[in-house]
Amino acid sequence: MHTFSSLPSSHNSLSFSLSQMKLLVMEHPLRKKSILQKTPKMVLLLVLVLILFTLIPLYCPIPRPLFLWGSLSSSSPSSSNHNDIDGLPKVKLDETCDIFNGEWVRNPEAPYYTNTTCWAIHDHQNCMRYGRPDKDFMKWRWKPDGCELPIFNPAQFLELMRGKSMAFVGDSVGRNQMQSLICLLSRVKYPIDVSYTPDEKFKRWHYTDYNFTIATFWSPFLVRSKEADPNGPTLTGLFKLYLDEFDEDWTAQIDEFDYVIISAGHWFFRPSIYYEEGQVVGCNYCQVDNLTDLTKYYGYQKAFRTAFRAINGLKNFKGITILRTFAPAHFENGIWNQGGDCVRKRPFRSNETRLDGFNLELYMTQLKEFKVAQEEGSKRGLKFRLLDTTQAMLLRPDGHPSHYGHWPHENVTLYNDCVHWCLPGPIDSWNDFLLHMLKREGRIYGGNLHSSYRKLRIR
Ligand SMILES: *[C@@H]1O[C@H](CO)[C@@H](O)[C@H](O)[C@H]1NC(C)=O
Ligand SMILES: *[C@@H]1O[C@H](CO)[C@@H](O)[C@H](O)[C@H]1NC(C)=O
Ligand SMILES: *[C@@H]1O[C@H](CO)[C@@H](O)[C@H](O)[C@H]1NC(C)=O
Ligand SMILES: *[C@@H]1O[C@H](CO)[C@@H](O)[C@H](O)[C@H]1NC(C)=O
Ligand SMILES: *[C@@H]1O[C@H](CO)[C@@H](O)[C@H](O)[C@H]1NC(C)=O
Repeated sequence: MHTFSSLPSSHNSLSFSLSQMKLLVMEHPLRKKSILQKTPKMVLLLVLVLILFTLIPLYCPIPRPLFLWGSLSSSSPSSSNHNDIDGLPKVKLDETCDIFNGEWVRNPEAPYYTNTTCWAIHDHQNCMRYGRPDKDFMKWRWKPDGCELPIFNPAQFLELMRGKSMAFVGDSVGRNQMQSLICLLSRVKYPIDVSYTPDEKFKRWHYTDYNFTIATFWSPFLVRSKEADPNGPTLTGLFKLYLDEFDEDWTAQIDEFDYVIISAGHWFFRPSIYYEEGQVVGCNYCQVDNLTDLTKYYGYQKAFRTAFRAINGLKNFKGITILRTFAPAHFENGIWNQGGDCVRKRPFRSNETRLDGFNLELYMTQLKEFKVAQEEGSKRGLKFRLLDTTQAMLLRPDGHPSHYGHWPHENVTLYNDCVHWCLPGPIDSWNDFLLHMLKREGRIYGGNLHSSYRKLRIR
């Protein structure tokens, strides 16, 4: 399925510490806040500072600030200040906290469901069923530096989503999150199946009491694709990716959704032939003599660009697009099909590993395209948000099924699965993040944020 190199090769010179980057960034909101409270002249200064910081990403190709500053004009640090000015309720300091930067800490209360209380767990992620002996991997929660991330509250989530709809677009890791969500919500309600098709790759669930709909759209490459050869050079299929063409299986259907959670990653490791304007332009690891290997990053970047272009081009779409960032796999001592496995039993602390190599490259590629899409979308009032799971999941080598995704005698392609996540397990925290984001959306992004932002600039 994937051509991963062995992990982790922790501290090479290309790697960097996300938390170091974050420190740099997180200082500013506080500093600005104190400046702001002094004099109106200082407000002018703040505007200049804001403009300066908005320009920084253009010259400074480091990933975290790119995102933070990229969303600055519409997100937490600046908007909390505006609220102060306009005499609106003061937003807690919490709102400036980067919830995606932190550590895993013990949580004896977890898990909040089991494979007997929730039927939505996909067989290959039902690790307890296949005899996983340890349970410790379920008993952690994400603790952001400088604030708390509340544990998922199913009643609150459903209340917030009343009359709304949410689509998951992507691959089986995206589905993994949706199934976690259904299981977390199952303490309050189960949905009914209202799928339009018997195809398991396109499911729709409805929470009748809340008129809330969840749907999944299978699109592992996000763009139009075809399997050219089920085997290919690595026996994982050879795919044709039409990098500039929409995958209408989802793009034609998401207009109506209030939230679109989009993700992609591991399929881009598979050999593929790239097409643009209907012509072959190169490939990724296809091992065809006369084709240039453009690398997976090329396809990944173009695919996100096209997917976001599709969303920004939808006339009736008014929803919020959430990019769920790449969740690293954790094969060690070999690649996925050469004995690599994930046998660790504890999370890493953030000082024990770093994002590097292809994980870093894919992550940065995503953030760049996210930024482009966010700017484009803002011209017509469309919002893009990051569900930035990369750092948290980098720290969870213990959360994958490994060989507990099937019976030992079963001959499956991905024998040691270090890509997906056991349910219950660390992927449940993605929905902690999601709920937190949705709440924040309602509190500080809603209402008159835009008018207050303009007011500030005029003064
Ligand atoms: C749930 O997990 C237990 C082990 O904890 C296993 O015996 C049982 O078969 C599993 N049930 C289902 C429905 O997967
Ligand atoms: C349910 O929500 C949808 C939007 O998701 C809306 O179009 C529809 O009118 C709602 N139905 C009821 C009965 O409120
Ligand atoms: C590559 O070579 C094959 C066989 O020689 C040929 O059929 C194909 O059209 C070539 N592809 C390109 C892109 O030149
Ligand atoms: C990481 O941080 C923890 C707690 O701050 C410390 O105890 C540990 O020694 C550090 N580990 C490394 C490898 O620096
Ligand atoms: C598993 O299946 C593959 C191909 O289907 C086959 O080549 C291989 O020998 C099988 N392995 C076992 C242990 O049965």
